[in-house]
Amino acid sequence: MSIELVGVVGAGTMGHGIAQVFAVAGFDVVLRDVTVELARKGRDSIAADFGRLVAKGVMDAEGTAAALARVRATADLAELAAVDLAIEAATENPVIKRALFTELDATVKAGAILATNTSSISVTMIAAATSRPDAVIGMHFMNPVPAMNLVEIIRALQTSDATYEAVRALAETIGKVPVSAADFPGFISNRVLLPMINEAVYCLFEGVGTAEDIDKVMKLGMNHPLGPLALADLIGLDVCLDILNVLFESFRDSKYRACPLLVKMVEAGYLGRKSGRGFYAYGHRGP
Ligand SMILES: NC(=O)c1ccc[n+]([C@@H]2O[C@H](COP(=O)([O-])OP(=O)(O)OC[C@H]3O[C@@H](n4cnc5c(N)ncnc54)[C@H](O)[C@@H]3O)[C@@H](O)[C@H]2O)c1
Repeated sequence: MSIELVGVVGAGTMGHGIAQVFAVAGFDVVLRDVTVELARKGRDSIAADFGRLVAKGVMDAEGTAAALARVRATADLAELAAVDLAIEAATENPVIKRALFTELDATVKAGAILATNTSSISVTMIAAATSRPDAVIGMHFMNPVPAMNLVEIIRALQTSDATYEAVRALAETIGKVPVSAADFPGFISNRVLLPMINEAVYCLFEGVGTAEDIDKVMKLGMNHPLGPLALADLIGLDVCLDILNVLFESFRDSKYRACPLLVKMVEAGYLGRKSGRGFYAYGHRGP
């Protein structure tokens, strides 16, 4: 099927980035969140990013204005009825995702594809919450979406070849590199990444090193562009905790047990960049 109109559900860190990438690639996008203020905040984040790209000379003002005009912010689920593809980027919680997919299935036109950007939750379980499980798939973008080339494509047990092929080709159309991962908790990316981040938090918790030194070791010693604690702040500490909890509960293996310090920081509302404080403090100019 040809995909022209794209719905993005959840206008947070990932949702606004996904909407941005599709709009730049020429697609019309409906960006939906639970309130119109949150949806507009997502659209404003796209505008702010476009402003930075224009200032750097990466994009021109006309191109970004045209792309922004293609993004409609709404809280009205009914506005998703006509989309050819809906990509869900809402909170990483299995109960929310299942309810949302049942709702999307009842709203979005027949034949449309429903994709989830989940980091760790079973796509097979999400697909089973719909009447079109063959048209449900995982499309796992990386953060920040406009800058990162990878998209993990996750086939649910029920996903049809046609859905897989359409989404794989679409990922290439928007300039991303699709990599196929099986539907196991955390897929490839977070199965490898989150235990590393968690271990870095344990190192801080146990006083093995300061946050700066832990990150410095991984940057200078392992050539990582960002240290694991700075990366956790970028991802969102709540999102990291949610993913670890899914890994822990799915595999029932204590190696995925979230560090108590991570749990405390989320309880305190120290969520990283998006709340202004995580392992580092953030002002308008960054850490
Ligand atoms: N943050 C990352 O680095 C990252 C990377 C890859 C994938 N993901 C995944 O992307 C998804 C979103 O993560 P995020 O970091 O953008 O979270 P976020 O907290 O920044 O944004 C989530 C948004 O979803 C909205 N939302 C919640 N329920 C909704 C509903 N029923 N309908 C519409 N909107 C709803 C919230 O209001 C919020 O604005 C999660 O599944 C997460 O695991 C995150």
